[in-house]
Amino acid sequence: MRLTVLTVAVLVPLCAACSRAPQATCAAAPSAAANATPDAAPMAWLDKSLSPNQRAAELVRAMTQDEKLTLVTGYFGVQQEWNYYRFPEARRQSAGFVRGVPRLGFTPQWQSDAGSGVATQGEAPPELERTVLPSGLLTASTWNPALAERGGAMIGSEARATGYNVMLAGGVNLLRDPGNGRNFEYAGEEPLLAGTMVGALVRGIQSNHIVSTLKHFAFNDQETGRNVVNVVVDEAAARSSDLLAFQIAIETGDPGSIMCSYNLVNGVYACQNDWLLNQVLKHDWGFQGYVMTDWGAQHDTRLNANNGLDQETGVARADQYQWLEKLGAAIHAGEVQQSRLDDMVQRIARTLIAKGAIDDPVQPAPIDFAAHAKVSQADAEEGIVLLKNESVLPLGANLKRIAVIGGHADVGVLTGGGSAQVYAPGGNAVPGLGPKHWPGPEVYARSSPLAALRAELPQATISWTDGADVAAAGNAASQAEVAIVFVTQWTAEAMDFSLTLPNEQDQLVEAVARANKRTVVVLETGGPVLMPWLGHVAAALEAWYPGSQGGPAIARVLSGAVNPSGRLALSIPRSLSELPRPEIAGSGLPKGQHFEVHYAEGAAVGYRYYDQKGFAPLLPFGHGLSYTTFAHEGLSARVEGEALKVSFQIRNTGARFGRDVAQIYISPLAANWEAPKRLGAFTKIELEAGAAANATLSVEPRLLAVYDVERHGFRIAAGEYRVTLARSARDPGQSVTVTLPERLLPAGAGVSH
Ligand code: BGC
Repeated sequence: MRLTVLTVAVLVPLCAACSRAPQATCAAAPSAAANATPDAAPMAWLDKSLSPNQRAAELVRAMTQDEKLTLVTGYFGVQQEWNYYRFPEARRQSAGFVRGVPRLGFTPQWQSDAGSGVATQGEAPPELERTVLPSGLLTASTWNPALAERGGAMIGSEARATGYNVMLAGGVNLLRDPGNGRNFEYAGEEPLLAGTMVGALVRGIQSNHIVSTLKHFAFNDQETGRNVVNVVVDEAAARSSDLLAFQIAIETGDPGSIMCSYNLVNGVYACQNDWLLNQVLKHDWGFQGYVMTDWGAQHDTRLNANNGLDQETGVARADQYQWLEKLGAAIHAGEVQQSRLDDMVQRIARTLIAKGAIDDPVQPAPIDFAAHAKVSQADAEEGIVLLKNESVLPLGANLKRIAVIGGHADVGVLTGGGSAQVYAPGGNAVPGLGPKHWPGPEVYARSSPLAALRAELPQATISWTDGADVAAAGNAASQAEVAIVFVTQWTAEAMDFSLTLPNEQDQLVEAVARANKRTVVVLETGGPVLMPWLGHVAAALEAWYPGSQGGPAIARVLSGAVNPSGRLALSIPRSLSELPRPEIAGSGLPKGQHFEVHYAEGAAVGYRYYDQKGFAPLLPFGHGLSYTTFAHEGLSARVEGEALKVSFQIRNTGARFGRDVAQIYISPLAANWEAPKRLGAFTKIELEAGAAANATLSVEPRLLAVYDVERHGFRIAAGEYRVTLARSARDPGQSVTVTLPERLLPAGAGVSH
């Protein structure tokens, strides 16, 4: 039975500003007082023969000051009593709402989270059940931008059909801390992969004539103290890591909006950070869209406005920050120029026009759940990673006795919590787990791996044991030819997590492995977890949060109906001591106490850090097994014009269809980077048994360079570079060397992907 929770947040996010907090009073919504109309032809902006910029300029000209202020002030969307405003036009249980300007026919902005589909704030009423795309981390593990784009197109269409014209998706913060509770929303540790995959998702979402954000800009890499942590990072390092991920995602997906984050960066709140917003984003990268705050991340009218913010969001309380009044007063007092407000409105309006949200307004419409399930399943099937396999998978058609144990695999698959929470059709399969209120509860999509496995392998008797009793689990395992144990790690926004599986699941795995040598572990986790048992089990499959078709996707990979082709978008540590920060910074500090985290590792994130230190992780970035084998042949590299081109052939040398991921790593032989190598290019190739394909890739030039702060650009040093075609960051692969000429790329240099 599903619970309907009407009030939210005893367990408030670590931020008060987030305002998912109870508030007793309720009042009528304020109305924008209409000033005199300043323009004789107020509807000229609707002329489609004009460019989006011209139309937006016409609109700005036609607006009163109050109307302009209306567009830059956003409210919490939910209708719950703690929200003072509760605009009736806001969508139920939605993240945000910005009023429109009816006099000029300008649309309201209806904003919904997030990257795995149309989210709901709080427990879902049935009408808000939506298709759940796998977690961002799973999608990144496909290394297939076309799938990310298809997934984005699917969730964007559900956003549109639900009445949203702004989707708060596009999480691309790099995985610096494996315990970050939001790693499931992001795309791993590597800027090229993360930027390309998230950019593709954004492009898909926006193909529905709605706006997508890219978030959280920037360095919001842990949830502990996210409102008070000051991230100290060197500019050159930032431009070659976290910022590069954003830059590539912007070039790939052209998001309409960037959401600035809660934290401080080098001493300044991200949403009033001139360096991040004005200099890097708008000046260097030429970003034409608008910057919105994360919910309640605004602190200072003058600094926010003058340093690059364009829209505040998430206002829920009358006493909370509000540009509607404060910005008008600041302009009146001469603290903020009128031209700045006009620029904010111009950016918001231009974006909604350019993305199609004006000329093709959103209309609630029916959803084709059956078709969307296929999109979600295709994504899951390519992003599940086969970590280990000692001749036990795929499960043979001759197996008679299989034991399935644990992880609620009888009823569903886990999803990630917080503002990105999406409820799959049928609601929560396992009610009553985790925090009672936001960012909880733990929500399982109703998609049973057990049932799907029984359908896949009708000849086998498949037993079910819930895993609560370790002895019973061992007993069930001992009676089967193969034991499959499911383990889960729920993660969520506003919290960080231990890398040790909760609820003594490591002990469960060990007990099952002791009882049956042919034990397969299926993990449903938000990010990397420690796997002390990996040496004792025959196989392991990382299924992340696999979305609303997770059951069949897992079953089909186990049975071999699908040949696994996911590759890790992150490194899996052997122990906490290998990490730059074994403990999340600020852990244990009193709520609200400011603290700093120094990114001493600089641009050496993930495998770059492991390489620099000479550590071998338990499982490296890029790793993932297949049921077939691939030969990599004929690697060559050459400079063509300004591009470094790499060619090779991949041959499927096994007996079944499969997909391989070619990874090109670059190492400077003379120059000095933060680490011995970087991923420079990748591609996924599908091949029938025995077939071969040739590929030529261009190496991302910024990944051949070191950012030079003085010269304000990416400098490629002349000299020799090793180009390696490999299967993971630890695979020696095969290499050639190439000589590159000196080159300086401007800070905003982009290539299209
Ligand atoms: C999150 C954002 C989200 C917003 C609206 C914030 O708490 O950090 O990612 O888009 O809430 O729900």
